[in-house]
Amino acid sequence: MTYNFDELIDRRTSGSIKWNDYAEDVLPLWVADMDFRSPDPIAAALQQKVAEGVFGYEWPRRDLAELICARLERLYHWKVLPEEVIFLPGIVCGLNLVCHAFGKPGDAALTLTPIYPPFLAAPTNQEMELQTVELKAASNGSILRYEIDFDRIASTITAQTKLLMLCHPHNPTGRDFTSQELTRISEICIEHDILICSDEIHCDLLMSEIKHTPTASLSTEVAARCITLMAPSKTYNMSGLGASYAVVQNPDLRKRMKKAAAGLIPEINIFGISAFKAAYGKGDLWLSEVLAYLRNNRDLLFAFITKELPELKTTVPEATYLAWLDCRQAGIEGSPYRFFLNNSKVALNDGATFGVGGAGFVRFNFGCPTSLMLDALERMKSALRSG
Ligand SMILES: Cc1ncc(COP(=O)(O)O)c(C=O)c1O
Repeated sequence: MTYNFDELIDRRTSGSIKWNDYAEDVLPLWVADMDFRSPDPIAAALQQKVAEGVFGYEWPRRDLAELICARLERLYHWKVLPEEVIFLPGIVCGLNLVCHAFGKPGDAALTLTPIYPPFLAAPTNQEMELQTVELKAASNGSILRYEIDFDRIASTITAQTKLLMLCHPHNPTGRDFTSQELTRISEICIEHDILICSDEIHCDLLMSEIKHTPTASLSTEVAARCITLMAPSKTYNMSGLGASYAVVQNPDLRKRMKKAAAGLIPEINIFGISAFKAAYGKGDLWLSEVLAYLRNNRDLLFAFITKELPELKTTVPEATYLAWLDCRQAGIEGSPYRFFLNNSKVALNDGATFGVGGAGFVRFNFGCPTSLMLDALERMKSALRSG
């Protein structure tokens, strides 16, 4: 390996949310960033930008859009034109913008729970009704796996439903939906004339030898009703730089989205632009190495839970560095998030904040040095054994 992902970086001295929201004796494995240095080419590009010493206005230029399109074609066989890319300062901003652009008060947006909490907030922030359908969970020993409940989706849709907000790969369950699943879900959307917002921020973080299929790449008919949200931020661990984009291939939808953003949503700042180019242009080596490291962490986590914590169940994520742990059979009274925070000094994400189907669960971020992950698991085991 060229990069050393075992290095323990003291992030408390930075303004890191992950490392400063809890007391010093707490090990934080919650918010979705990784405790690794970003790829060297990103740091070099930022240093060069700082050395320029003049920080005036910049637009992301066409060369960046062309770089994105070339990468989408290379990795996902998805043909996108540079003019179909809209730059955004963040994906949560994109989720809200999509609701703002395509929903009016009284319209509804449907999403699949448990889900990354901003999906629950974005529709109501924009005066839309929120409709939720719980994913179907099945377990086999310690393994937990989620499937889409197509019948429930069809029966939940009403005349008000205007938008399906899909998280693909899905946070927190780690599912990267198959093209068969995506086809079925888009058939339902076509039948009911529903737009699809597909948040694919985690699509490069594949934990097994599978191929990610962008929802919009299924067919031109699906692309015509799809807004795809993507970013280098999770992939290259640069989420503080606010660089992301939407792909909107239908010109009418693109026009509406740009109009809704006008004057409110800035494009990417100059540091984000430089980092973005370096990530997509020169980040391949780092990405292949971090994926190997994350896959090993995922496998160690699964082995630990199977052997040492059989009272828990866990997803084995196909994508994302997030494991979703079912603690309902662990004999914990009340919230497992509180239990592990108070008794293990490990900060995880509280499953209850992920909507229906989340209570009794915690989300565990294994995007960290293996030693930290194992320390957290040992602490959790001690708390459960002494409970
Ligand atoms: C599915 C998903 N979308 C969006 C985000 C956040 O994106 P941003 O920081 O660009 O707003 C996250 C972060 O964890 C995420 O998991």
